[in-house]
Amino acid sequence: MSVWAEMPTVSLDHITETGHEQVSYFHDEETGLEAIVAIYDTRLGPAVGGTRFYDYDTEADALDDALRLSEAMAYKCAAADIDFGGGKAVIVGDPAEKTDDLLRAYGRVVDSFGGRFVTGEDVNVDTDDLAVIGEETPYVGGGDIGAGTAVTAEGVRHGIEAALAERYGDDTLAGRSVLVQGCGKVGSELVARLADRSADVLVADVDDARVQRMVEAHDATPVAPDAVYDTSCDVFAPCAMGGVIDDGTVDRLACDIVCGSANNQLAARRHARALADRDALYVPDYVVNAGGLVAGHVELEGGDVDDALAAVEGVRDRLERMFDTAREEGITPLDAADRYAERRMAEA
Ligand code: NAI
Repeated sequence: MSVWAEMPTVSLDHITETGHEQVSYFHDEETGLEAIVAIYDTRLGPAVGGTRFYDYDTEADALDDALRLSEAMAYKCAAADIDFGGGKAVIVGDPAEKTDDLLRAYGRVVDSFGGRFVTGEDVNVDTDDLAVIGEETPYVGGGDIGAGTAVTAEGVRHGIEAALAERYGDDTLAGRSVLVQGCGKVGSELVARLADRSADVLVADVDDARVQRMVEAHDATPVAPDAVYDTSCDVFAPCAMGGVIDDGTVDRLACDIVCGSANNQLAARRHARALADRDALYVPDYVVNAGGLVAGHVELEGGDVDDALAAVEGVRDRLERMFDTAREEGITPLDAADRYAERRMAEA
């Protein structure tokens, strides 16, 4: 019996407008798996991107997340001078109900792409989950594709230092206040790196235990999750979910720099301009958070974690070039990054 009347309205025109090559929906009745795989672009190489397991409010939200994240992956690869395309998958549901059977069913979904889509970790999907998914397909790595959490955090550290140099003419972290939103895998590694360099670190997380760990281990100052946007700091580092800079928060932010690991930090593109108009430097998220991808790429070429940590310093050079272009042409660093990535994809 058809349930068309209960289906959400999702416009195919919208997918055409976003420019995606392929968007696929999978359902496995036996395990309850519901997944969307979005492939944005494969001109540079196979689409890579993590799998997110999340209890979305609506199916349209899930689709939107997959579309935005896969596009960001394509730009991330292109901007990092890595010859991969961009994709992303979301598994829709309560992560607490994750089972090995469901993950194996998802592994068969990944396998059905025959290598055109290669996946890895993301929110609520960790290396243990990848091992189960990997029972059904060889097309899995860790991180975005590679065990990259520490490398991601190191890339964000380089990004923050590049931004400090651009904004203040001095990249010294000591004495600078950095507010890290989200003390998960990346956020906690970033806090450690900032504290090691004597930055004044503030932390917020909806999970109190994670905040407490950062306070005890790194002498960080706790900030309530809803006070984040009104707390004065030099650098705001979003390391939780995307979309945190929106019409409601952009004018409240009391920082000079926004630079963190979260994917799709801007709710809309116009928020990059809004930040620039307030003299706040927005560091394009997909350039600064490429560490997981860099780690995977280094690993594929036979390198180890130390090689990846060295390679991710490239984030700093790329950002410096993009800041230069933005300054010279009177555009935002996000525009400069997009232009660079689009040129690489077009030339592939
Ligand atoms: P995670 O799930 O380990 O950590 C996220 C943290 O944010 C959790 O501690 C969670 O409690 C907290 N959080 C959620 N909502 C919050 C809110 N409203 N306020 C404050 N804290 C909140 O995820 P992970 O791996 O650390 O990733 C963080 C972000 O960085 C995500 O957006 C992810 O897509 C992105 N990213 C991660 C990469 C990686 O290597 N893991 C690579 C590139 C991007």
